[in-house]
Amino acid sequence: MDKLLIRGGVPLHGKVSISGAKNASLPILAATLLAPGEHRIANLPELVDTSFMLSLLGRIGCASLVGKDVRIDASRIAYCEAPYDIVRKMRASVLVLGPLLARCGEAHVSLPGGCAIGVRPVDQHLKGLEALGCRFELEGGYVHGKVDRLRGAEVDFDMVTVTGTENVLMAAVLAEGTTVLRNAAREPEVIDLGQFLIGMGAKIQGLGTSTLVIEGVPALRASPKPYSILPDRIEAGTYLVAGAITGGDVTIEGVRPDDLQPTLHVLGQAGCDIEVDESSVRLRRSGPICAVDVDTQPHPGFPTDMQAQVMALLCLAEGTSHIRENIFENRFMHVSELLRLGARIDIAGNLATVYGQPMLKGATVMATDLRASASLVLGGLAAEGTTEVLRLYHLDRGYERLEEKLGALGARVARGSEGRVPAAFAAAS
Ligand code: EPZ
Repeated sequence: MDKLLIRGGVPLHGKVSISGAKNASLPILAATLLAPGEHRIANLPELVDTSFMLSLLGRIGCASLVGKDVRIDASRIAYCEAPYDIVRKMRASVLVLGPLLARCGEAHVSLPGGCAIGVRPVDQHLKGLEALGCRFELEGGYVHGKVDRLRGAEVDFDMVTVTGTENVLMAAVLAEGTTVLRNAAREPEVIDLGQFLIGMGAKIQGLGTSTLVIEGVPALRASPKPYSILPDRIEAGTYLVAGAITGGDVTIEGVRPDDLQPTLHVLGQAGCDIEVDESSVRLRRSGPICAVDVDTQPHPGFPTDMQAQVMALLCLAEGTSHIRENIFENRFMHVSELLRLGARIDIAGNLATVYGQPMLKGATVMATDLRASASLVLGGLAAEGTTEVLRLYHLDRGYERLEEKLGALGARVARGSEGRVPAAFAAAS
């Protein structure tokens, strides 16, 4: 298994270009099932998760061609199924449920099961799709769905759910009549999916608000123009924290600063100097890191996907910070590993109290989920000495060319495998 070797203590300097958003790519790839023809998608990030989704589409019957754009031919649906062996590796596979029901009238999708950060049920997905006329049976660990004719309905989500909103939206666009989704997710990735659907002929109002109104249409068609995935605000935030935690000067390019506002607000409170341009953000940190209290919330609140990364930063703050994780019930898996780097953190329920320390010290740490592993890399970049982050496959799910991008900012990082240290890294020890 791969690991990342980091020799910390180097302030990062330079520019890094941000890739397409993982969490927009996955629903948009699933949405290609809604219309026959060849879909063209630009700026798709090369990640483990996007390759999983492309292989799932392949199993369903859609050929894809990866080049400058990714071309997906959804003319033929051979199987209306998302099998367990794929879904267990990527829970976002559940996003094919709505499109398969809308296109084929049936779907057999393995229940995703929980993951490191929580149980993560899909009851809201089923609630919304049932309102549109779908019928479900749970059997053998699969959701077996059928629908004769999707009909527009009013759906009130019990809580804000990103993929729940996306799944029901993707079915509603082909339902007969009007659908209203209330308490819908407002994340930029949901807006991106909506724009992609509109490009296929869907009629959607209210994107970016908590109420979506969808006029169903009889059919959609693959847009003749390539659709470009929006920049990844979480990857962007992660590199900004890399600049902040190392006391450097980092500019992220090819971003939408508006999508970053909740993260920029917290980094400003933490003592960073931030300059925002049209499609880039420059962050410098020369003074002390200030303690900050953070509450994760659905967008436009502070994103739960940035919680672990900001916690790593606050481990080096002057003073005590309080981080409340309001979205997932178990998203503090990074804490025990940050403690190995010398952090001082107490957990009580969904509240983490972070007592800032003057420094962190390199150690071997274990990644548990995507964003937890990002926080360990950030801790290692700031720590004195060498840090080894094990189980790197977690990172490869959501960060494109991570060590290349970090290396270009001056970080001393190298990918090794258990028991093998790259010669260059060993020599420089
Ligand atoms: C999406 O997950 C993202 N994944 C997650 O990013 C992100 O952390 C999350 O939204 C919150 O922003 C993708 O978009 C592929 P939710 P999702 O449904 O849709 C509960 C990353 O690191 N809930 O918004 O699965 C749920 O348990 C990943 O990139 C139900 O109870 O999250 C959670 O507590 C991690 N029933 C809360 O709602 C449901 O039917 C929000 O979950 C659905 C959700």
